[in-house]
Amino acid sequence: MSIQADARRITAPEIQARKGGEPIVSLTSYHAHTARLLDRHVDLILVGDSLGMVMHGLETTVPVTVEMMIVHGRAVVRGTQRALIVVDLPFGSYEASPTEAFHTAARVLKETGAGAVKLEGGRRMAETVRFLVDRGVPVMGHVGLTPQAINTLGSFKARGRDDAEASIILDDARAIAEAGAFSIVLEAIAEPLARRITEEVAPPTIGIGGSPACDGQILVLEDMLGLGDRVPKFVKKYANLGPDIETAVATYAEEVRARTFPAKEHTYAPRLVDKPAKAS
Ligand code: KIV
Repeated sequence: MSIQADARRITAPEIQARKGGEPIVSLTSYHAHTARLLDRHVDLILVGDSLGMVMHGLETTVPVTVEMMIVHGRAVVRGTQRALIVVDLPFGSYEASPTEAFHTAARVLKETGAGAVKLEGGRRMAETVRFLVDRGVPVMGHVGLTPQAINTLGSFKARGRDDAEASIILDDARAIAEAGAFSIVLEAIAEPLARRITEEVAPPTIGIGGSPACDGQILVLEDMLGLGDRVPKFVKKYANLGPDIETAVATYAEEVRARTFPAKEHTYAPRLVDKPAKAS
């Protein structure tokens, strides 16, 4: 058996061991080229099912399929060498039973080369998380605002802002932690709740609208780059690429119409071939 000298990737147990330590830096990515740019700077890249809305123009993440996750997951794994790659299990591919979840998770890990999966839900998913972890699948949990449940939640608003809802989300996080999740995403929840969960549960918490109290942070890359039209309150725009892209495209269109692009430097000249000397 040969041993491959592969580049060393961050593992799920290494992320788990970062509880309370240096903040865990995470972003989403859906393609090889952005993943390559992220790889040196982040610890974890999530191939989130938000790709359905961001890349495919869907209204919600509900229609996203396992095949879509695999295509994008593979691209991100190919574009990276160092970060832990986590792929979301999409709605309808894991909730029915732990066995269904295992088949989907195993397929995702085998066909993408990712190091872990993420699934949404608290107490109702605890048995499934335990089942997967016991069978060699590292699982990232996701509680608070869980976008796959949009049809029962009714809106994308923040969660856990009153005591009753906060206590449900706290119990959800505890259940997923006890079931063996290596980390838990806390999405769009009130600050005191994020702090309490982070203090109480053993795995690191990764906030997206979860406040600085979390053990790490994640954002959707396109949102923080200024490519999204409507972004939630918790997004900080670190760039404004939307207008930059539009300016570039408008300039290109003008130049093509004015025949100033392509210029000489973008044009191939004929290859000069030495003519054979004439026989005298
Ligand atoms: O799908 C996604 O991008 C996510 C993040 C919002 C955490 O789940």
